[in-house]
Amino acid sequence: MPEKAQKKLYIKTWGCQMNVYDSRRMADVLAPLGYRPVDTPDDADMIILNTCHIREKATDKVFSELGRLKEHRDQKKARGGKMLMAVAGCVAQAEGKFIMERAPYVDMVFGPQTYHELPQMVMKATGERVVNTDFPAESKFDALPQENDNQGVTAFLSVQEGCDKFCTFCVVPYTRGAEFSRPVSQIADEAKKLVESGAREITLLGQNVNAYHGTGKDGKSCNLGQLIAILAETDGLERIRYTTSHPRDMDQDLIDAHRDIAKLMPFLHLPIQSGSDAILKAMNRKHSADDYREIIAKIKKARPDIAMSSDFIVGFPGETDEDFEATMQIVRDVTYAFAYSFKYSPRPGTPAANMPMQIHEKVKTERIQRLQDLLNEQQLAFNRDMIGKRFDVLFDRKGAKDGQLHGRTPYNQAIHVKANPRLRGHTVPVDVTEANANSLTGNVAIF
Ligand code: SAH
Ligand code: SF4
Ligand code: F3S
Repeated sequence: MPEKAQKKLYIKTWGCQMNVYDSRRMADVLAPLGYRPVDTPDDADMIILNTCHIREKATDKVFSELGRLKEHRDQKKARGGKMLMAVAGCVAQAEGKFIMERAPYVDMVFGPQTYHELPQMVMKATGERVVNTDFPAESKFDALPQENDNQGVTAFLSVQEGCDKFCTFCVVPYTRGAEFSRPVSQIADEAKKLVESGAREITLLGQNVNAYHGTGKDGKSCNLGQLIAILAETDGLERIRYTTSHPRDMDQDLIDAHRDIAKLMPFLHLPIQSGSDAILKAMNRKHSADDYREIIAKIKKARPDIAMSSDFIVGFPGETDEDFEATMQIVRDVTYAFAYSFKYSPRPGTPAANMPMQIHEKVKTERIQRLQDLLNEQQLAFNRDMIGKRFDVLFDRKGAKDGQLHGRTPYNQAIHVKANPRLRGHTVPVDVTEANANSLTGNVAIF
């Protein structure tokens, strides 16, 4: 075997789906240099930590992981081997210099917009340490090679990146840079490739995915609703999802797409963060709680069976008991099938970090507990409501138990079904028999 084919690449990924997608693309770009992905750091030739900076603990985890991996590296060195260590992603972008100082054994630090330059960086790093946190003029999407590996039955496709909204709590506009949309033809080609390699469901990704405004094949600007309509024409593609959307960009075309496009799944992740107008204003979300209620009413009119999901932050600076109650109220009003909730975490360099009236940890803990109790209750009720009903399930992989397949309902719930392994990759009607907080059980429907 040529020496080229023998290098082991270990990538560990934190954070959002965007990072998961980027990690795959980093592996693609390093493949021509002979790097092949492996599942453990032992004996790796190169380690990349693809990091997330959204909340505090994420950064701490990176440093403790670096410490742990350094031992692997030292062991390898003692055996006469070499291991390149790299930090990528949003912590790298925000704290590049700090990482180089605090972890002097790290060879490379590079931000999310530079992955296509990885081969050059790797070659350089064999001689010296490399920091690259530029926002280059050339888009990484143009320069990255075509997606070349098989993501499986459900795949992710990044259509938009970055954010210009500057919510006062959030690091994303700083770590990912300005909003950028990929051209339609590039996305359509990638979707086709994914379907050819077995994908039946594609989730369109972006930090602000519904702010999508890529250049269409006719040279005109194309929005997300229009993009979904184009992708829905892809033969063999059965399901389309998108995440994460912002309430302000929930335009009529996208709402209509939920009514008109059968392949678009009736599940929408639309974060509101808080139910209080005062807090929404301080967060710079630029919409009120009632604006959000109105959007949901419109979406439900277009697609009555749609299920909602959201993100929430509790303990934003200045959040009073009344503000928090308003969040509880919007949860009761909307009712969610699924949600993420977080304690506010001050991020260096963001406006909210310097706001007066930071909330005490104890209060944040009490509030998040109450909110999560309510959200969990709603999630369980939503899941239980499925019992006795029939849904199309896309089987994406083997189940936990022998003879079972794992699949997803239209509402993205995990479901375990006793089924012939040949049904993997197929969409099949399933009768739901049991439900718990995180998954369902069912039987393939008999006609
Ligand atoms: N673009 C998306 C969110 C991306 S970040 C949107 O606008 O909705 C994912 C989630 O992380 C956010 O929705 C928010 O709930 C949470 N988050 C972001 N910054 C945070 C912070 N400083 N503290 C706690 N949670 C935060
Ligand atoms: Fe962050 Fe706000 Fe942009 Fe979402 S919209 S990525 S929360 S700044
Ligand atoms: Fe985290 Fe960066 Fe995503 S901060 S959530 S990895 S955009």
